[in-house]
Amino acid sequence: MATVAVILAAGLGVRMKSRLPKVLHPVLGDASLLWVLRALPMNLGGAVVVVHHGKDQVLGALEAWEKAGLLPCPVTTVDQGKPLGTGHALQVCIPELDRLDATRVAILCGDVPLTTPATVLHLCAAEALLLAMDLSTPGSYGRVLQHPDGRLAGIVEAKDATPEQLAGQRANGGAYALPWPALRQALQGLTNDNAQKEYYLTDAVAAVGRELPVAVEICDPEELAGMNSRKDQAALQAAAQRRIQRHWMAEGVTFLHPDSTLVGPRVVLHRDVLLEPGVRMEGAVIVGEACRIGQGTVITDSVLGEGVEVLPYCVIDRARVGAGSKVGPFARLREGTDLAEGVHIGNFVETKKAKLHRGAKANHLAYLGDTEIGEGTNIGAGVITCNYDGVNKHRTTIGRNVFVGSDTQLVAPVVIGDGALIGAGSTITQDVPGDALALSRVPQISREGGASKLRSRQKKATGVS
Ligand code: UD1
Ligand code: CA
Repeated sequence: MATVAVILAAGLGVRMKSRLPKVLHPVLGDASLLWVLRALPMNLGGAVVVVHHGKDQVLGALEAWEKAGLLPCPVTTVDQGKPLGTGHALQVCIPELDRLDATRVAILCGDVPLTTPATVLHLCAAEALLLAMDLSTPGSYGRVLQHPDGRLAGIVEAKDATPEQLAGQRANGGAYALPWPALRQALQGLTNDNAQKEYYLTDAVAAVGRELPVAVEICDPEELAGMNSRKDQAALQAAAQRRIQRHWMAEGVTFLHPDSTLVGPRVVLHRDVLLEPGVRMEGAVIVGEACRIGQGTVITDSVLGEGVEVLPYCVIDRARVGAGSKVGPFARLREGTDLAEGVHIGNFVETKKAKLHRGAKANHLAYLGDTEIGEGTNIGAGVITCNYDGVNKHRTTIGRNVFVGSDTQLVAPVVIGDGALIGAGSTITQDVPGDALALSRVPQISREGGASKLRSRQKKATGVS
């Protein structure tokens, strides 16, 4: 006994002109289908996603979202086979909806990403409801016909409509809540006797409306806008961007240039965060209080503590940055980077699976991969952890308060003890004990007057006087 959501996602999406199924196209970094699933309330009896075109890709995405804990309720899928229309999509769900003991179904489209959780909650709680929108040019949307008291009287697809019906501005949003027994009955009577030779869900909804009152509610068109083309995708992205920015501005976040700043739906920003122009954040990102994120910075699936300063043009992916740290400009923090509090990562520094303890610094031009670097340690310019021997990756472990001189190569696996000092230009291939001074340099030769002697020899050899 439950309300079950059905999400239609089997269509090809011809107008997207893409190899990717339409419902996987992103809006601010999250696939349209993920937006729809994440808007579902948690107390549903489940959600059934109808798939077919690009099925393997959709199933793969669903599995990844499930693993990442992004789905609010259990999700199953039904393969529609050759899609014969939205009504056919529901017909193939009959056994699954019966299995789930559905008493009511809430139907949504996988290509309509911006319906808010509040609207979906309202829909899921309704007895029998259709969501519509009033548009000045409803184009290819179905037209909603109502009885004088507002109840649903019918839905005509644009391709089947008379000129008078086409002139109507009340468009079908494609989102419905209906009692399952009544809809189940109506689905069995569907025919494809229409302009598109399809089994229309809208005919079944209208048939239910002849048995019991189906309410019609008008929504903000943005919430029901579908993604059928790249143009729609751009418009949806702009609408989502405005909505998300309005929300964070009200929470105390400054956007220096809102138009060029993209913040995804799973980003959490704390107060006094300041985003410079051209910042993009996607996936699960948390930015702590009073962080400043520099121009052109891209952050995905990462957590930044309070008061972090990211200078312009950094790329931060699957990393953690501790409070008060300073990063950039032009730094790249890759997956598994874990910076404690007050760490400094300067220009042209790349880190991967690197744990830097409190106050460690790597201010210029370094590659730090598969490494742990102790508190207060200073990594000089041009230092490289040589972590890869062509076959395997090896670790570099550096203790506390170590000084690693510029242009040092640390050939892993290697361990540097606390307080050690490594002279500039060294190639370190063996462990260095704590407090040791390690150097590996060819002794320097300086011959007095040697430069002019060499030049005159060179001139003689080429015959220039
Ligand atoms: C549908 C409605 C229309 C409404 C519009 C709102 C019908 C007949 N028409 O039209 O009244 O105004 O949505 O957006 O329902 N799909 C399947 N299997 C199919 C066909 C479609 O899963 O066999 C999926 C599509 O992938 C898509 C959704 O259903 O996610 C809607 O299908 P689409 O073909 O875009 O319907 P519209 O023509 O937009
Ligand atoms: Ca559509």
